Amino acid sequence: MIPLWPAFLFSMLLMIYVRQVLTLADPSSELITVVAVFRHGDRAPLRSWPNDIYFDDKYWPNGLTQLTEKGKIRAHSLGKWFRKYYRNFTSDIYSPKDIYMYSTDVDRCLMSAQSFLLGLYPPKGYQVWNEAIPWQPIPVHTAQRHKDDVVLDKRPCPKHKKLYQQAKRAVYKNLEEKYKVIYDTLKEYTGWANITPELVEDFVNQIYVYDNYNKTFIPDWAKKVYCHPDVKYLAYLALQTSTSTKTLARLKIGPFFHKIICHFENFTCGAPNAETGPKFYAFSCHDSCLIHLMNAMGVYDSRQIGFSDSLIFELRKSRDGNFYVNLVYRRHDGKQEWVEDLTMNECGFDCDYIKFKDLMSEITVHIDEREKECREIVS
Ligand SMILES: *[C@@H]1O[C@H](CO)[C@@H](O)[C@H](O)[C@H]1NC(C)=O
Ligand SMILES: *[C@@H]1O[C@H](CO)[C@@H](O)[C@H](O)[C@H]1NC(C)=O
Ligand SMILES: *[C@@H]1O[C@H](CO)[C@@H](O)[C@H](O)[C@H]1NC(C)=O
Repeated sequence: MIPLWPAFLFSMLLMIYVRQVLTLADPSSELITVVAVFRHGDRAPLRSWPNDIYFDDKYWPNGLTQLTEKGKIRAHSLGKWFRKYYRNFTSDIYSPKDIYMYSTDVDRCLMSAQSFLLGLYPPKGYQVWNEAIPWQPIPVHTAQRHKDDVVLDKRPCPKHKKLYQQAKRAVYKNLEEKYKVIYDTLKEYTGWANITPELVEDFVNQIYVYDNYNKTFIPDWAKKVYCHPDVKYLAYLALQTSTSTKTLARLKIGPFFHKIICHFENFTCGAPNAETGPKFYAFSCHDSCLIHLMNAMGVYDSRQIGFSDSLIFELRKSRDGNFYVNLVYRRHDGKQEWVEDLTMNECGFDCDYIKFKDLMSEITVHIDEREKECREIVS
């Protein structure tokens, strides 16, 4: 079996490394820049099983695949949370020097970005331009999906495709035998003729959508299946296999890391008054974005990525002038919101920036290099 290296290493090394280096506990450290990557807010279904009667426009007034009203609320509340959590870091007056907002060119992500920005920068003071409209325009940058050099899902990569197929052949072997009961149950109720981990993942994501929209849409048989640990595991395989080796991860998400590190470099290497770009970089994208980033770094633990969950990279500077990176995960389950620390096993929570870059080097690549590597022939 192909080693699922990040998750495997993570659990193996966690106990050995983490404790001794955890928490620099330097309250005088300075927050230098923040990169946040979040999933869009609640959405309507993208796909479903053939027997699903609720996979129908008539139940989704904004249309399938689109952001729902609850999704707007959740993305807006994410923006409000950032405003509060980073209140001493960014001014509450909007400035293009403070934030750069990027979104994939997908309606629900663009709309989430706008809702988020409304939460982060409700007009204040001189920026109130119309008393009747408590909103102000703030740019959201995007790129056509096939030209997107951050989120590469729609950019073909023959080498990744080939290696991914090989990885799947190894990881997916004998799953049907091993998880026969699950496979048979899903076949019986869903109408799918053949079950794959990808379909199990579609199923799990779809139930998550219903659970957050209208629980009565979840059929009784599905409630039991959804909670089964083997179902979660199969979905996990589907989510993480495409980044399960360093090469797969580099080709899938390397340019995103390149962007983040390039952004950090501006702050760590620049001359004192050099232009650095905005200190807050935000990306509105998909659960797959968060999973690919986290899995590649060895901090993905098979969790369900909730709507508007956010992965946050913080670059800090300690009193003695050293830079380090903190990785945190912000969630909101509809009732409460909280932040969890994520720890890269080889580095600890307060990860020295030089070490961070070094650890990331194999999974970080410039887009042009990536395109070149994609064309390499694999046997
Ligand atoms: C923000 O700054 C204020 C005033 O300087 C201070 O009292 C407060 O503790 C700071 N909050 C955070 C979260 O650092
Ligand atoms: C959920 O769906 C049921 C059945 O379609 C409907 O009767 C109910 O009003 C919906 N509930 C909400 C909160 O939308
Ligand atoms: C780094 O700074 C330069 C100069 O201001 C800017 O053009 C570039 O976009 C910045 N890079 C990132 C990733 O922010």
